[in-house]
Amino acid sequence: MADIDMELDVVGIKTRPEIIAGIVAIEKKAFPKHESMANDILKEATTSGNTFLVVTKSDCVVGYVSFSRNSVVGHIRKLAVALSSRRQGIGRYLMQQAILRMKSAMSISLHVGVERENAFALYKSLGFQIQHLRKDYYRVGRDAYFMELESEAFQ
Ligand SMILES: CC(C)(COP(=O)(O)OP(=O)(O)OC[C@H]1O[C@@H](n2cnc3c(N)ncnc32)[C@H](O)[C@@H]1OP(=O)(O)O)[C@@H](O)C(=O)NCCC(=O)NCCS
Repeated sequence: MADIDMELDVVGIKTRPEIIAGIVAIEKKAFPKHESMANDILKEATTSGNTFLVVTKSDCVVGYVSFSRNSVVGHIRKLAVALSSRRQGIGRYLMQQAILRMKSAMSISLHVGVERENAFALYKSLGFQIQHLRKDYYRVGRDAYFMELESEAFQ
């Protein structure tokens, strides 16, 4: 991601309301209501152990990733890129930044809906491997893969 207009920031209590609104707008388009954290972005960002990164382009939100970690493992909680900014390397960049910040973990995990082929392709290309299929993970009829990236792949 070599666009000089792009900026990466950590979301927190000082983040401007326009940035939060930009994240909410993407979240609402990318995820159905029952999977949405649109009403709780600041809570997500400020919960102990969580980190929330946002990429802006000319001050407009184009993508974000949320992850949590403890001393042993990391977990990707959310990733999304605005429709108009996809296929420009932003999703990969956000994942790389998240992985970099969890580099002392023994492994990094995530769930991905089985129908989310683009996200699945991204995670596979970063080295994440399917560990299990979790039936009805999001709701009845909405299964997820539980994927993991072992530390040898990123340390
Ligand atoms: C998944 C998502 C974050 C990818 O963001 P992005 O910025 O478009 O991704 P990138 O441009 O960095 O692409 C990275 C890789 O993802 C895969 N990928 C992304 N979009 C793809 C598409 N439309 N078709 C096939 N592969 C795709 C490719 O492997 C790609 O690598 P390549 O460009 O070298 O082929 C984006 O599609 C999105 O927000 N989707 C909706 C929300 C979502 O599914 N989030 C994940 C929930 S677990």
